[in-house]
Amino acid sequence: MPDNVLRLEGLSKSYNVGTEIETEVLHGIDLSVNKGEFVAIIGPSGSGKSTLLNIIGLLDRPTSGKISITGHDTRDLSDASLTALRGKSIGFVFQYHCLITAFTAHENVMMPLLAQNEWPSVKIARRADELLDQVGLHRWRDNLAGNISGGQQQRVAIARALALNPAMVLADEPTGNLDTKSADSVFKLMREVNVKEGTTFLIVTHNLELADRCDRIVEVIDGRLSAGTRTSLRSSADGSQGPVLPKDPSAGLPAARE
Ligand SMILES: Nc1ncnc2c1ncn2[C@@H]1O[C@H](COP(=O)(O)OP(=O)(O)OP(=O)(O)O)[C@@H](O)[C@H]1O
Ligand SMILES: [Mg+2]
Repeated sequence: MPDNVLRLEGLSKSYNVGTEIETEVLHGIDLSVNKGEFVAIIGPSGSGKSTLLNIIGLLDRPTSGKISITGHDTRDLSDASLTALRGKSIGFVFQYHCLITAFTAHENVMMPLLAQNEWPSVKIARRADELLDQVGLHRWRDNLAGNISGGQQQRVAIARALALNPAMVLADEPTGNLDTKSADSVFKLMREVNVKEGTTFLIVTHNLELADRCDRIVEVIDGRLSAGTRTSLRSSADGSQGPVLPKDPSAGLPAARE
């Protein structure tokens, strides 16, 4: 895999194209994210963070510009190829966990593995058990997802996002709905996965304290990345883009990846 897990070049997005209310919400964004980076995306409400994350996650297409995921240029890919690349390379965690509440924690984690339709059911069940172990929830394996706490639900969502070993996890306000303690514990879990597995994380958050604990902070303002000082060790090494505002450049850089 190339060092770049993600590369955006001149990415723009307009909604309602060709109508009177056409609005450009992302304006020529350039950004590179390397393998194993743990990146916070911050910015005011309405600045375009979710729009950006949805495009990075291949859930939506840009109006113009180029997105490469794990070295694959996505511009000319068919919808089927985009779906395959997304399934293989990207895990998602949302603010509202999007679990199926009538299914157990274990069943929820099995979902992406079942959808992939490649493994025998015994292997799928075992992998889901391993993932629940990893997020510290094995005891709750058979509880309905609707009957566990918000923090535990978010852990199940993280386990589910990791099911297919994605290169990159995209999390849109994953702690936005949690109390401080649960938010801290969910954040720590993501960092732990990042350090142990080398999984890249892009985390949209309004929580500046959590953002400060990431490798770098990318700030979106009015659909543009703010021109901060880039101090991320990784991104400066390859000259890639990304405004960064950490107070201590070495803070939070996991030693395991160096
Ligand atoms: N499907 C859509 N159709 C039209 N406009 C949209 C659509 N989705 C988002 N927008 C507009 O795009 C802009 C950016 O929205 P976006 O949801 O990306 O912001 P955000 O930074 O994630 O905000 P928040 O912090 O509140 O989640 C907003 O002005 C929003 O109204
Ligand atoms: Mg949003």
